[in-house]
Amino acid sequence: MTDLYHPAPAFPIDQAALLASEHFGIEGELSPLDSERDQNFRLASSAGTWTFKIINASEPGLESAFQVALLTHLAAVAPDLSLPRLRKAASGTALATTLAASGERHSLRMVSWLPGRPLAESTRSPAVLNSLGQMLGRMDRALQGFIHPGALRALDWDVRRAGEAHARLAHVADAGDRAVLERFLDRFDKQVAPRLAMLRTQVIHNDANDWNVLVDPDRPDSVAGMIDFGDALHTVLIAEVAVASAYAILDQEDPIGAVAELAAGFHALYPLREEELDVLFDLIMARLVISVTLSAARASRVGDNPYLAISEAPAWRMLRRLDAMNPRFATAILRHACGFDAVPGATAIATWIDRNAKNMAPVVRPHPATLAKALVPYGDAANPMTVASAAADPEKASTWWDAHASETGVALGIGPWGEARSVYSGDMFKSRFIDGSRRDRHLGLDLFMPAGTKVHTPLAATVQSAEIEEEPLGYGGLVALLHEPEGCPAFVTLWGHLAHEVVARLKPGQKLAAGALVGEMGAHAQNGGWAPHLHLQISADTGLSARAILGVGEASYLGVWRELFPDAAALVGIPPETFTQTGRSRAEIVAARKATMLPNLSISYSEPIKFVRGDGVWLIDDRGRAYLDCFNNVCHLGHAHPHVVEAIARQAAKLNTNTRYLHDNIVAYAERLTATLPPELGVASFACSGSEANSLMLRMARTHTGREEAIVLDWAYHGTTQELIDLSPYKYKRKGGKGRKPHVFEAVIPDSYRAPADWPAEEHAKRFAASVAEQIDAMRREGRAPALFMAESIPSVAGQVFLPDGYLSEVYAMVRAAGGLCVADEVQVGFGRVGSHWWAFETQGVVPDIVTMGKPIGNAHPMAALVTTREVAASFNNGMEYFNTFGGNPVSCAAGLAVLDVIEQGDLRRNALEIGNYLIERFRGMQERHEAIGDVRGMGLFLGIELVADRRTKEPATVLAKKICDGARARGVLMGTEGPGDNVLKMRPPMIFTRANADHLLSVLEGTFEAVLAGKE
Ligand SMILES: Cc1ncc(COP(=O)(O)O)c(C=O)c1O
Repeated sequence: MTDLYHPAPAFPIDQAALLASEHFGIEGELSPLDSERDQNFRLASSAGTWTFKIINASEPGLESAFQVALLTHLAAVAPDLSLPRLRKAASGTALATTLAASGERHSLRMVSWLPGRPLAESTRSPAVLNSLGQMLGRMDRALQGFIHPGALRALDWDVRRAGEAHARLAHVADAGDRAVLERFLDRFDKQVAPRLAMLRTQVIHNDANDWNVLVDPDRPDSVAGMIDFGDALHTVLIAEVAVASAYAILDQEDPIGAVAELAAGFHALYPLREEELDVLFDLIMARLVISVTLSAARASRVGDNPYLAISEAPAWRMLRRLDAMNPRFATAILRHACGFDAVPGATAIATWIDRNAKNMAPVVRPHPATLAKALVPYGDAANPMTVASAAADPEKASTWWDAHASETGVALGIGPWGEARSVYSGDMFKSRFIDGSRRDRHLGLDLFMPAGTKVHTPLAATVQSAEIEEEPLGYGGLVALLHEPEGCPAFVTLWGHLAHEVVARLKPGQKLAAGALVGEMGAHAQNGGWAPHLHLQISADTGLSARAILGVGEASYLGVWRELFPDAAALVGIPPETFTQTGRSRAEIVAARKATMLPNLSISYSEPIKFVRGDGVWLIDDRGRAYLDCFNNVCHLGHAHPHVVEAIARQAAKLNTNTRYLHDNIVAYAERLTATLPPELGVASFACSGSEANSLMLRMARTHTGREEAIVLDWAYHGTTQELIDLSPYKYKRKGGKGRKPHVFEAVIPDSYRAPADWPAEEHAKRFAASVAEQIDAMRREGRAPALFMAESIPSVAGQVFLPDGYLSEVYAMVRAAGGLCVADEVQVGFGRVGSHWWAFETQGVVPDIVTMGKPIGNAHPMAALVTTREVAASFNNGMEYFNTFGGNPVSCAAGLAVLDVIEQGDLRRNALEIGNYLIERFRGMQERHEAIGDVRGMGLFLGIELVADRRTKEPATVLAKKICDGARARGVLMGTEGPGDNVLKMRPPMIFTRANADHLLSVLEGTFEAVLAGKE
């Protein structure tokens, strides 16, 4: 190789001019250029401007030949790039030779002069750095296929040889500086050098320092060309980016950001590989270390050489800055800039957590999703809590928060990921990456609850560390857990601000099952001096120690931190609605309803709820609180069931018409639906609401019998149209009702719980049926007879009343004997809710003449149906068409089919039976503890708890029922009250209700009963 210490050629300028004209035929004005080893001139002539090079005599011929071959290759394969082009000598070759007066032989070379201003004298904007990256990318792509024996040379400037700097350390006088180099070399030897052999290698320029890069003066964001291929060699490709970066970042405010730009530019034209980016930070340091140590060695050997020293001071400044950075974070920034995961696996981890969020054990109990939540005001610098925390006054901060939380009913305070916070005021929050910038973005998720609140791991884990961080505003008790779930790259969770007890309990290597205790939220004396809370953070990088995990980061790198330290909200199951609200506030909606909608519309709860999302058994409100829905039976399979949603969307996107055209869905649904019913019930018809189905039923019954008279049960509700209001004592007997119409006859509610005490239980059916017989008698006396008897198969509005065994057979026999039709209203209770059967009437061993259905039929898609016998259908066919614009359309039938699929495929009737029986048994246990529970009733997931002031008199405990219902709502569970005394707790949870859901309901009910009965609510 060239002897670095061999003196550069020193031809007088006139002699050089002679050589230029003699060998290359160019005459003009020569001006000397800086060069480390050779003698270079700018040569301005009438035949253009040139660079004339007299090469160091010590340069082996092989290297000169390599230079020529390299430039020749580039000229051939990348003619569009602005690079020096060789001028042939008179001899016909690119190299000429001459003999110096000293007797040394020198090669001579002439290349075209490139216009442009050196990057060293230009503004190093992000755009120009990106452009430099692109230039290098294009050039190196053009060099991919090039090789030459001269390229395989040993060069001190080869970053792979940074380890040789060990031998030059002695020339560095300052011990602190030496320590910087030693730390680097140690890492280089152990972690970088072993990986170099696996990287792509090729010939590269290897010296894109800012004097060799030319910027277009007219377009200062654009690199115009590259010069000086004197250091070109065959080495790792990534060294090209590393070397260019090492110079481009000097004295930059945000050096890693500058590298990121350069690397991204390169990557766009010549894609880099992850393993190359993983060593880039270290190779930049390697180049700087080579530079400063060579410089130090030369200084002590031959005295100062101004060319070598040119970048020395800034290089030292940069080395000290890079030394303070965590290389893993710097690498994460570079990987992110090139579109790779900031750390391998980051995307897979975030996706896995999102997909599995529902299966995590709750971090605090009850589950955080179910708690009333609000953001802790750390995002507001002026808030008293923020001010107190910034002033290290945790007691004052806690007092403010506790008062605020109890005033607003908030149980869980949330400190969101990514929040800009003014509380991080100490020196420890100065950025190590960006000069003059601070770290103020919170990278964990804070859960604020009282000190002592227990926190549990959402997933199985191995304890990585448990320690106490004593620094003020540190973490106090600090735990790191390693999670290795199946199908997901390993990740770490960091648990900060815990009570110190954790250190004695958890040991590294210890295994924790999902849901196991991690620790307790510490009081401020133990948690680093904060209002009690848990800082929970995910690290996708498992190689970071607990203390190295960055809890607070720079805003400008938030995109990187998001991948490296993903938001733990999904892991904890905090609904996104907690963080962002959309649409109008609750009060605004109430006001808008008042202004533009019927005042008759009621709103559930005195403090109305705004739900924004449904998910299975959960309804999520506008503030991210999930309520367990035990009330709404329409969402039979749970809210937004994906199979039904998909079926509706697919059909809606294809075709929606009406029953006047042929369509597969309509007949398929009629077949599937009738198949669930006894064979006599073989004719289906479709409508859009339960009321429409019941109205159609009325038309049929009247046509079939030629009569108007109807027998209904007291307190029944059958629909919202006037003719159905007339058949609904629940409506016509209450406020605004006009009383019973002459064609309507009421039988008593067959409520065994309220049957006269002297009725033997086995006679309840007969005795209650006598009330129907009385109505038929009353009609007969007036020369009338019933068109129909209609009852819900389990009267619901009447208070979840279960008909005594044999009741419907008694009644149906009487009604049929009088020529009337028997109608089962299954709008609430059908579709397998009772578990043992598809239809609740089946539990009575009867077959009605007409069954009407609605609510759960389309899992919230507006749809209803009526199924009847061939005989009734035939008599209804009197010439008048039945047409319902929307009823039975292909989309509705697709929804109906999907509902049947899910019930059948998910064996949901069995689930309803099992969970229902479990609940009934546990409710009975509660009945033993609470006198107020007069009766527990249920079949499958149709459930009622009747509350009484006195078990003997059975006086309805109406106020208590309301309090329990309100108390359950306050605890995040929805139910209703029903019955003439409004004293029956009514529950109809979705058919997918699990044992865990049931336990949640039970614990809330128990807690509510205890609080209400103790007079606390
Ligand atoms: C038993 C019963 N039948 C019929 C209806 C009327 O159904 P819709 O509101 O769909 O018209 C209801 C509604 O609550 C009902 O509970």
